Amino acid sequence: MKRHWWKETIVYQIYPRSFQDSNGDGIGDLRGIISRIDYIASLGIETLWLCPIFKSPNDDNGYDVSDYRDIMEDFGSMEDFDELLIELKKRNLKIILDLVPNHSSDEHFWFKESKKSKDNPYRDYYYWKKPKSNGDPPTNWISYFAPSTWEFDDNTGEYYLHLFSKKQPDLNWENPKVRQEIYDIMHFWMGKGIHGFRLDVLPFISKDLSFPDKTEDNFDGNFGRFYANGPRLHEFIQEMNNEVISKYDMMTVGEGPGITPEQALDYVGENRKELHTIYHFDHMDIDRDPYDYYGYKKYSLIEFKQIVTDWDRLVDMGGWNTAFLGNHDFPRIVSRFGNDKTYRKQAAKLLCMFLMTQRGTPYIYFGDEIGMTNVPWEELGKYRDLWVFDGFEKHLKKGGKKEDFLKNLKHTSRDNARTPMQWNNKKNGGFSEGVPWIDLNPNYENVNVENAENAKDSILHFYRKMISVRKGNKTLIYGNYLDLEPLDENLFIYSRKDDSHTFLICLNFSDHCITYQSDMLNQRSDVILCNYGMRNSVSTGKIEFEPWHCLLIKISRS
Ligand code: NOJ
Repeated sequence: MKRHWWKETIVYQIYPRSFQDSNGDGIGDLRGIISRIDYIASLGIETLWLCPIFKSPNDDNGYDVSDYRDIMEDFGSMEDFDELLIELKKRNLKIILDLVPNHSSDEHFWFKESKKSKDNPYRDYYYWKKPKSNGDPPTNWISYFAPSTWEFDDNTGEYYLHLFSKKQPDLNWENPKVRQEIYDIMHFWMGKGIHGFRLDVLPFISKDLSFPDKTEDNFDGNFGRFYANGPRLHEFIQEMNNEVISKYDMMTVGEGPGITPEQALDYVGENRKELHTIYHFDHMDIDRDPYDYYGYKKYSLIEFKQIVTDWDRLVDMGGWNTAFLGNHDFPRIVSRFGNDKTYRKQAAKLLCMFLMTQRGTPYIYFGDEIGMTNVPWEELGKYRDLWVFDGFEKHLKKGGKKEDFLKNLKHTSRDNARTPMQWNNKKNGGFSEGVPWIDLNPNYENVNVENAENAKDSILHFYRKMISVRKGNKTLIYGNYLDLEPLDENLFIYSRKDDSHTFLICLNFSDHCITYQSDMLNQRSDVILCNYGMRNSVSTGKIEFEPWHCLLIKISRS
């Protein structure tokens, strides 16, 4: 297997709006990030991913770009960005930016022109379609953030396509000029000295141009089948590779909703000349009702492990994987996959061990390194995400009750992971001197960076140790992965192994104490890291698991 820096790097993702405010307007910004750069470097991570920082009216917090070559005013200026680049370089940190190639803002110059008339030179930058003969939208698709994916324009009497909000019109990738615009933008930022891109909803850039309606027969709750993985997708990505990606030593990570490991190989296979990496949604959908985004369902550890194992196959097939458990689109990981009450600390450490021992590039979402949790909000008015409000309308239309919706939000809303970083127990958790754009999680008084720095056994210190263990052991990066107990409902036990070393990763994903016997363990088994102190001896082959106990064990050859 070929070694690459983007396989070995560890990514730290920041939602800039919520990381650190420097000017008291209640919104995180670039100067805020600069002021926290030593903290970021102290984690041991090597690459920073910033959610979109481009000029935007913020209908979807930056995922609606009105100028791809300028910085969002809320976040600062291009000078601030240049300074950030300098400060990152001083610390040997790389940075990837979040590019949104599938749609722009309706306030982008291209769209404003496109709307003007049917013969405007920018008309074909977007998908415009005539109404059906009865005046209905061209298809009956439901948008993520709106009742329909089509919005009617009185001026020209046509509908335009928007898979997300009506302020996020889809760019028409069939038009070579659109593709060239995006490649030029990529060159612009690479020329500034960044190291790559995260590419938003990449499978959506090629559509099925027959625009089929959804019917009872062809719909399984997933609109992806209509508007993802279209016929020209790989042609477009190969072109992007040829025009941009192949010209730099860079990293790309595609967001890949709805893809299988086999499909992922088409994006990231070594010989495909497309992307470096992509991340999938299988474990993100595990507790979701496919017909109701805000409905959630229970899942089993067995299902979770199966997904991890299925996706590890991507590496055997000649691709590379990503390891993540959450980001700005999902709830906090310790609340979702761990226990955010009695065993918050233990569970957060266990999830860290899981991430750092996977065969794939690991992603840490800001705040997870101190065990930030979902919010306990009881009022809709606390939420800020446009998806919540559209979801609420859809829920009511289906006859759902407000209290059920509110209850589900606590488990599913994206805002759970968008509350400000908790730096200390002072005003607004040290995030801002002004009124934060979204409330802090009230637990900031206890759960914060300052407390974590001061406590020897904190989640934060555990992250630092685990990160350095991964960086120091190529076996944990490239070694083979094997799930040893796929049918155990509580334990996730797997090995990472190469010609030089064997590691055993033992994770108790439950609130119970469990005794486990393994014939892999012997006199030469050393516990490298554990979240219950180092009192465990495993040389007898027996592990007495405490709740959410995790152990990283190195087994030396005889
Ligand atoms: C995926 C992004 O991660 C999400 O935050 C955004 O709302 C949609 N794409 C639309 O751009």
